[in-house]
Amino acid sequence: MKNDRKTASNLSSSTIPSQAIGVFDSGVGGLTTVRKLVNMLPNERVIYFGDTARVPYGNKTAATVSAYTCECVEFLLEREVKVVIIACNTASALAMEAVQRISPVPVVGVITPAAETALRSSVTGRIGIIGTRATVQSGAYQAAMSSILQKQGLEREITVIAEACPLFVPFAEEGWHYHPATRLVAEEYLAPLKLANIDTLILGCTHYPMLTDVIQDVLPNVRLINSGEEAVGVADAILHEQNIHAQERSLHRIVDCYISDKSTAFMSVAERFLGFPLGMAQEVRLKKG
Ligand code: DGL
Repeated sequence: MKNDRKTASNLSSSTIPSQAIGVFDSGVGGLTTVRKLVNMLPNERVIYFGDTARVPYGNKTAATVSAYTCECVEFLLEREVKVVIIACNTASALAMEAVQRISPVPVVGVITPAAETALRSSVTGRIGIIGTRATVQSGAYQAAMSSILQKQGLEREITVIAEACPLFVPFAEEGWHYHPATRLVAEEYLAPLKLANIDTLILGCTHYPMLTDVIQDVLPNVRLINSGEEAVGVADAILHEQNIHAQERSLHRIVDCYISDKSTAFMSVAERFLGFPLGMAQEVRLKKG
């Protein structure tokens, strides 16, 4: 399985608490993870990189996603972040090992943290996963769950049902959180999960937390797991272990946002996903861009 967490020994001894946390996503969606991060760890500064020039990743091959992700993470590493969160589920599913190879600081993906919580939360062992086509086809969540159970030495019987929900991404960006069309599409996508009687569902894509209400409406008795929030929890634990939590709130901007293409809609979508004004986003051209 792809281990979503670099060991503490990888952390450079010169890391200091005031360094920022780097968050990477294929585009705007990772700001749902930053929203959780800012709530859970209000003293931390964030440097966000969204690869808006090359989004979506969810329909690309593993080789392409790995190459793009490494290039973007290098950008964050050049800014001396103390930990990297790969908020993008597709990148976490397909590029974790490649990123871990190039990073001197801990890298936290979303897959293992969310898989762990799903296994803990599920009573019946019937767990659903929704994500992009690439995430679902990768089988990364299933592999992570098998590996966790194996490590725990548990024989537990689990049934995992995974469904790709690609249309949720544009609906979330469009702000159609309560639109009847979103409800219709949700019913269609989620029907197999309903039929399978899952009790836990991993929201395995950065955008899906924006559609929590409609998803919960279609699956009323199912516990929804926000994969970004789980990753922030693991990053928090690493900062604790290493004693590198920011001690006080930064006087500088809390979120420095960099993107590889500044589309006209970016700021409004970004601020809706983030839940507060972003102020500005800086466009950067990646070397191999
Ligand atoms: N950020 C991606 C993810 O979480 C969704 C958008 C894309 O396809 O790039 O998988």
